[in-house]
Amino acid sequence: MKGVILAGGLGTRLNPLTLVTNKHLLPIYNKPMIFYPIETLVKAGVTEVMIVTSGPHVGHFLSILKNGKEFGLKHLEYAYQEKPDGGIADALSIARDFADDQPLAVVLGDNTTDADISDAVKNFKSGGHVFLRQVPDPQRYGVAELDKKDKSKIVQILEKPKNPPTNLAVTGLYLYDNKVFGFIDAIEPSNRGELEITDVNNMYIKRGELTWSELGGYWTDAGTFETLFRAGKYWHDKAQKEAK
Ligand code: G1P
Repeated sequence: MKGVILAGGLGTRLNPLTLVTNKHLLPIYNKPMIFYPIETLVKAGVTEVMIVTSGPHVGHFLSILKNGKEFGLKHLEYAYQEKPDGGIADALSIARDFADDQPLAVVLGDNTTDADISDAVKNFKSGGHVFLRQVPDPQRYGVAELDKKDKSKIVQILEKPKNPPTNLAVTGLYLYDNKVFGFIDAIEPSNRGELEITDVNNMYIKRGELTWSELGGYWTDAGTFETLFRAGKYWHDKAQKEAK
């Protein structure tokens, strides 16, 4: 399986920090944010990776990550998203040639986790797979509604619903087969003008091809001051505990 890290956007919620560099290079405790999703992929055995990025600071990625060798990557590619506000699915569409019909592990560049997704990666055959997680504030995320009788089935995913049907957030880690690119071609921009990854996931659901598992360990996105701070605190405390 190949990996794609989506690290575009303008990160306006983190202004003025994002005037200095790309959001995904801001520090979470002792590392630039993007080191975390890279480490998640490498830990799962995914060592051929494309980073899709955009905005005024794209050059910074190359000087920090170089060819990715020091992270255990065998191959690191960069791609440029012309519309930084095109949405997650628009960014992913750029990885079509890189994917070369192989399945993809996709991680949003502002998601940090110490979960181990190796088993899901190893056992993945086809369709799509999302990692869910109970959160206290589901209205901030894509939220999964499960079948009342068969909890292994997702009925639909709602993007940032005002009245979430569950507290199960769809985290920013996804596994897809090569149908994902056809689904991206078929969706329309949402009310916020973006191609939504939630619409892509709902297309898998319609075909009965979206599976899910619970993401273990710690997880947070880090796209706001609050979550950036929280993520830094978690990784700081974990490092302190491990040093004892
Ligand atoms: C995006 C997705 C959302 C998902 C979240 C996870 O939201 O649209 O479905 O739950 O990432 O981090 P965004 O961070 O772009 O608002």
